[in-house]
Amino acid sequence: TQTITRALRGNFFDFSEVVSSSADVEASARYLEDGIMLLNGGKIVWLGSREEGERRLAESVTAIPLDDYREKLIVPGFIDTHIHYPQTEMIGAYGEQLLEWLNEYTFPTEAQYHDLEYAHKMSQFFIDQLLNNGTTTALVFGTVHPQSVDALFTVAASLNMRLIAGKVMMDKHAPEAVLETPEQSDRDTRTLISRWHNHKRLSYALTPRFVPTSSPELLEKVRAIKADFPDIYLQTHLSENTDEISWVKSLYPEHERYLDVYHHYNLTGSRCVFAHCLHLHEDEWDCLSETDSSIAFCPTSNLFLGSGLFNLQASWHKQVRLGMGTDVGAGTTFNMLQTLGEAYKVGQLQKYRLSAFEAFYHATLGGARSLHLDDKIGNFDGGKEADLVVLDPGATALQQLRSSNSKTLSEKLFVLMTLGDDRNIYRTLVDGKVVYQRPA
Ligand code: GUN
Ligand code: ZN
Repeated sequence: TQTITRALRGNFFDFSEVVSSSADVEASARYLEDGIMLLNGGKIVWLGSREEGERRLAESVTAIPLDDYREKLIVPGFIDTHIHYPQTEMIGAYGEQLLEWLNEYTFPTEAQYHDLEYAHKMSQFFIDQLLNNGTTTALVFGTVHPQSVDALFTVAASLNMRLIAGKVMMDKHAPEAVLETPEQSDRDTRTLISRWHNHKRLSYALTPRFVPTSSPELLEKVRAIKADFPDIYLQTHLSENTDEISWVKSLYPEHERYLDVYHHYNLTGSRCVFAHCLHLHEDEWDCLSETDSSIAFCPTSNLFLGSGLFNLQASWHKQVRLGMGTDVGAGTTFNMLQTLGEAYKVGQLQKYRLSAFEAFYHATLGGARSLHLDDKIGNFDGGKEADLVVLDPGATALQQLRSSNSKTLSEKLFVLMTLGDDRNIYRTLVDGKVVYQRPA
């Protein structure tokens, strides 16, 4: 029999298995009313009925703390597959689309992260924002400065959080303060990998910003590092904005399409995560699918920058791994509930009906699968890591009124994603420990 260190009582919701079509999502949904979950440190040991849970607790020779969340809904910690921590302080910047927005707001903001002390202060703020919003794992961009990533990983390691991040690699088409040479990029990246990759629950992601800020020499360096570390991640942007796509074509005329540039340098494949993917040609969809690459769907960003509408239907049809991203600071919230609500509206504009089940799937088990972490996080199977969120489904008078008028679980979840925000995050647990408590 296994050691138990903590027990949680509440209503549990998750997905039992990875599915390959939206029609199968609902059958994978599991709801356990008034159940008990048993933890051993940072691992889930068991989840089942309250009666059986109480029997197991009674058998224990030592007293085990039981956290009572009986009016609450407990779900796996949300997974944010695309976010920029050094854009936290410029979220919601007015008036521009992607390329102007980068020049006007983003590059000057990111230039501040050469200062380790500043980076550390902002890392703490950023991780707090993730946890206050129920996000327990994220795939995160730093800046070009290696110290930005040292600061972020230091804070994540202190919580034993599962986090993937990397320093941005960029060597042209931006101000000096955020540029480097390919040689410097190679050296700094390799140093960070040796320091952080597979340290505790941290992983490293190669982070070439996007094609327009990458010379062929830089992309060659990325290729070489990737070849040296078979389990490394790679994160970048792909096909977000139509001006960006034309620019890529003019910079790399020898390549037919945007994705061909990455693919040419072997920067596609398992653990490669492409944010946005809004204007893909069929050949690019096929390339993502055939190489087992992943997509980060970032609805609040895509609407805020006026970039376009992501085609969820195509991602299912082409069987491309998919997770949700907030893309802060182009995205307008850290909150996954709000992000799912915006994803629904993106679907509406294309006559795609995103169900609440499908939305929560993408934010949990689907996101875990897109990061090849579904053996560790994403649902409540025994042996998985104890990262979870306790949601308060009736955090406001309006939500209480609306919930009292919703009958099914699906309807209750849908109300959470249309009316929900950080007020619904009651507790966040990372590694089996409470890391956020909503103020009373
Ligand atoms: N493309 C290149 N850099 C960025 C960025 O920082 N944000 C977004 N949304 N797109 C990008
Ligand atoms: Zn981004």
